[in-house]
Amino acid sequence: MNSKRKKIIADFTQNPVTAQAYANIALIKYWGKRSVELNLPAVGSISLTLDALKTTTTLQFDESLESDTLHLDHRNVAGKPLERITQFLDTAVQTGDRPKAKIVSSNSFPTGAGLASSASGFAALAVAVNEAMNLHLTKEELSILARQGSGSAARSIYGGFAEMMCGTSLDDDQDDFAIQLEDESYWDLRLLIAVTSTDKKETGSTEGMVRTAKSSPFYTGWVESQQADLDEMRRAIKKKNFAKVGELTEHSCFKMHGLAMSGRPPLLYWNGATTEMIHTIWNLRTKGTAAYITMDAGPQVKVLCQPGNSELVKQAMLSVKGVKQIIEAKPGPGAAIVTDNQIKVKNS
Ligand code: PMV
Repeated sequence: MNSKRKKIIADFTQNPVTAQAYANIALIKYWGKRSVELNLPAVGSISLTLDALKTTTTLQFDESLESDTLHLDHRNVAGKPLERITQFLDTAVQTGDRPKAKIVSSNSFPTGAGLASSASGFAALAVAVNEAMNLHLTKEELSILARQGSGSAARSIYGGFAEMMCGTSLDDDQDDFAIQLEDESYWDLRLLIAVTSTDKKETGSTEGMVRTAKSSPFYTGWVESQQADLDEMRRAIKKKNFAKVGELTEHSCFKMHGLAMSGRPPLLYWNGATTEMIHTIWNLRTKGTAAYITMDAGPQVKVLCQPGNSELVKQAMLSVKGVKQIIEAKPGPGAAIVTDNQIKVKNS
């Protein structure tokens, strides 16, 4: 693969390094890959990084290990998640010739249930690899590296609002990285997350994307209409036009879910509480409270509102049967190395 990353001169430290990254929520969604093999998106996207959804990952390369190990949320994990990490590390090293790694990771929120744990997970791992291998990657290069683990991870390198760029090449990823639009201090917003299920999703995002691209009659329309949504969202964020940001957020979400539902077989990520929540929020809006819905590849409902309305919106969300928990998030920071309990931000 042609990568924007500079050729690696491996300089491994065997000391443990710890990184933190925060999940992000796409306001303008990404759905579809132009290359599954290289994990290249079919469309750009715009996101908000969230302070309440944090992954902390410690990575240690160790010559004495025979294989990589993963300890996730206090459990040893093998199979697919570990294979994904091994593949990610091999890609990062480029030569495949590397000491094996011990990875200990924990999330402050349910893993794999549509709360973007792969975004914060691979962003944290990319930052940890950069430090452990002394790669000195720029933010864009870090974003490219994170994207190789998970498309949405490219955006979690940054705090605040980020835009994922989408190239056109099928065998080159040099244009597929995220940039920061505004940092986390730019606009005080709230995103309330209703956890309606903590079960692992049945159909992962890659499988779902491949299915819809192959079988939905609406896929071309989805790809072709994305640029207009991105342009409008960028403008709305610049103007801090909350109603416009909210309306575009909801539109992109329902367009993505409509697309997924129109695949064969159809893909429905929602449960009963999800649907009930949609009506509750729309009802609230009819009565004058500005609150807007977004959802990803899972049944959780995320509601964007302004700080002054968050308590009222939260109470309405708690009234929905089946809601297990509400997580309240603000715009969060970018991925960073943690040293001596202090976060060291790598500015390259
Ligand atoms: O990061 P991935 O490849 O699992 O894809 C994430 C897709 C959505 O969360 C549904 C949308 C997005 O842009 O984050």
